[in-house]
Amino acid sequence: MEMKKNKIMKKYEPLVNMFDMLNKAVQGKYAVAHINVNNMEWIKASLLGAQKANAPIILGVSEGAAKYMCGFKTVADMTHDMIKNLKITVPVALHLDHGSYQGALDALDAGFSSVMFDGSHFPFDENIAKLKEVINKANQYEASVEAEVGGIGGSEDGVTSSGEQADVNECVTIANESITCLAAGIGNIHGIYPADWKGLNFDLLTEIHHKTNKIPLVLHGGTGIPESMIKKAISLGVAKINVNTECQLVFAEATRKYIEARKDLDTDKKGFDPRKLLKPGTDAIMDKVVEKITLFGSNNKA
Ligand code: 13P
Repeated sequence: MEMKKNKIMKKYEPLVNMFDMLNKAVQGKYAVAHINVNNMEWIKASLLGAQKANAPIILGVSEGAAKYMCGFKTVADMTHDMIKNLKITVPVALHLDHGSYQGALDALDAGFSSVMFDGSHFPFDENIAKLKEVINKANQYEASVEAEVGGIGGSEDGVTSSGEQADVNECVTIANESITCLAAGIGNIHGIYPADWKGLNFDLLTEIHHKTNKIPLVLHGGTGIPESMIKKAISLGVAKINVNTECQLVFAEATRKYIEARKDLDTDKKGFDPRKLLKPGTDAIMDKVVEKITLFGSNNKA
């Protein structure tokens, strides 16, 4: 009996769940970086960036990105093996980002150590009912669960929301479920912020932090939030910050520079070799990951 239990629970090793890393972050008043990954280069750059900064890291995978990478199991197997091959020693969580109900269950079975169930578009009762089932399954694997209240504005991988401010009572109710962290809409938006963006609602954040008994809070839409707001949000209980667009932008910029310098046309140096063509972009992601970790204060917190 014991053997069987261990076999299931250790399915996601060498990954860890988010529980310890986020609770330490709340105590220490810093945030762990959640970096969305899109391919092998992204996973490698994020792992190496975290190792360089000696920081815990959460690799966020949307369902669209998982599909692009040939499914949850491919992503989990690739991440497991890369951690070993690259001799990564910092804590790494592999986390489904904005998961559907079925997606969350499937990612857990495939070896993810953490899932977000994004039921924010359901009526609240349905969000809770489905969340409970996801938690049940996650518990079998000792995996962590992120829940969401109030949609995060903007669009990401087909998940679109106009952005709401979370209802505090709903936050309290959902925080009473056995979740590890809570994403609550406080005016944050995925992607690039519009020029007339009103900023984060710090009064709401403060209220949610206190009324939910200081559950680790998640700030989605990390790209483009001014540094002073990031620091203030962390001081008010944000323990996980999601970054996606910013890494995509630096990857694209570095790759464009390489091509504009016509390095891909250098046949002597085989500049067209994908390992060379993708290197500047991959290095740019790694540098961005280190920069974000340092801003969030999780460097040397592995
Ligand atoms: P950005 O693309 O705005 O960085 O948001 C990422 C995110 O919140 C992923 O869930």
